[in-house]
Amino acid sequence: MTQISSRAVRIDQNGGPEQLKLVEVTVGDPGPGEIRIRHKAVGLNFIDVYQREGLYKLPMPLQLGMEAAGMIEAVGPGVTHLKAGDRGAYASQPPGSYCEVRVMPAKCVCKLPDAISFETGAAMMLKGLTAQYLLKKTLPAEGLQSGDFVLFHAAAGGVGLIACQWAKALGLQLIGTAGSDEKCGLTKANGAAFAINYAKEDFVARVKEITGGKGVKVVYDSVGKDTFLKSLDCLRPFGLLASFGNASGKVEPLDLGLLAAKGSLYVSRPTIFTHLATRESTQAMADDLFAMVGGGKVKIHIDQSYPLAQVQQAHHDLEARKTTGCTILTL
Ligand SMILES: NC(=O)c1ccc[n+]([C@@H]2O[C@H](COP(=O)([O-])OP(=O)(O)OC[C@H]3O[C@@H](n4cnc5c(N)ncnc54)[C@H](OP(=O)(O)O)[C@@H]3O)[C@@H](O)[C@H]2O)c1
Repeated sequence: MTQISSRAVRIDQNGGPEQLKLVEVTVGDPGPGEIRIRHKAVGLNFIDVYQREGLYKLPMPLQLGMEAAGMIEAVGPGVTHLKAGDRGAYASQPPGSYCEVRVMPAKCVCKLPDAISFETGAAMMLKGLTAQYLLKKTLPAEGLQSGDFVLFHAAAGGVGLIACQWAKALGLQLIGTAGSDEKCGLTKANGAAFAINYAKEDFVARVKEITGGKGVKVVYDSVGKDTFLKSLDCLRPFGLLASFGNASGKVEPLDLGLLAAKGSLYVSRPTIFTHLATRESTQAMADDLFAMVGGGKVKIHIDQSYPLAQVQQAHHDLEARKTTGCTILTL
């Protein structure tokens, strides 16, 4: 039986970035439905922060990380879409991508096209597939048409900069919010039609102004606690609030009567992992992402990269809103 040694990052208890420990682990052979992958680069995501802090509770000890790219070394019984020697990339449960080598379920691992580097693959799978399901599958009842306004919070972040470009390619007028003028400039350079610095401007008033008082059809809100209620005020009647994250903290329980009072609104709390429930849905979404990136319509901005051993600094910077675009850990 194979016994491979790998560096990995894990936590033994919830807490701050100081809980992230570099350890040695032993990796064996893949079982049924599994693969062994040797990572070339690992993606950093805000969900890693929620899992580290304990906002999303998981059993300890916990090897963090949900996104990476690398070489498939071995496949277990029943795996037919991958073979040893393939290049692969994934966004996948369970956590564990902060490492050199791991055994994991094959279902969400996709062959990475030769034209896409390992670094880009590691940076884009979780964030790009999220932008995909938000803009293509998390829609108001009548769908989105070219020219429609959508509001996208934290638009200069990892998911955000991908969404700016993808929305433009779909003909949508994305209004992006971000926490500084510099970040606002970045969203516009990536296709946002309008940018609002929500650290100093009232974004509800600005959205009303931009849309001639009508409001937007969808708000994509990953900031959570600080923006949720104000996001409802940006919607036109029958509009949809897609609450897909909690960067500022968990959203308070909602009084449903507010949705009636504000115009028969819809609220959804989607997660990528419902969309990645099957091999077929995962591959279809990945093919869409590969076409957008391979065809040059979406550029993946890797604005920060840290060696695996500096993962504590990477978490610090992500939480302190010092990052833009995507962040990877290098091996
Ligand atoms: N549900 C899903 O399927 C799913 C999948 C992927 C990601 N997400 C969510 O999407 C969001 C973006 O993920 P990401 O990995 O690409 O992260 P990111 O956007 O690169 O980083 C988070 C951004 O949120 C903004 N923010 C606002 N208030 C904040 C606060 N109090 N603390 C920290 N940041 C704050 C910051 O931008 P500004 O400084 O510009 O405000 C920060 O840069 C996260 O909330 C994540 O959980 C959800």
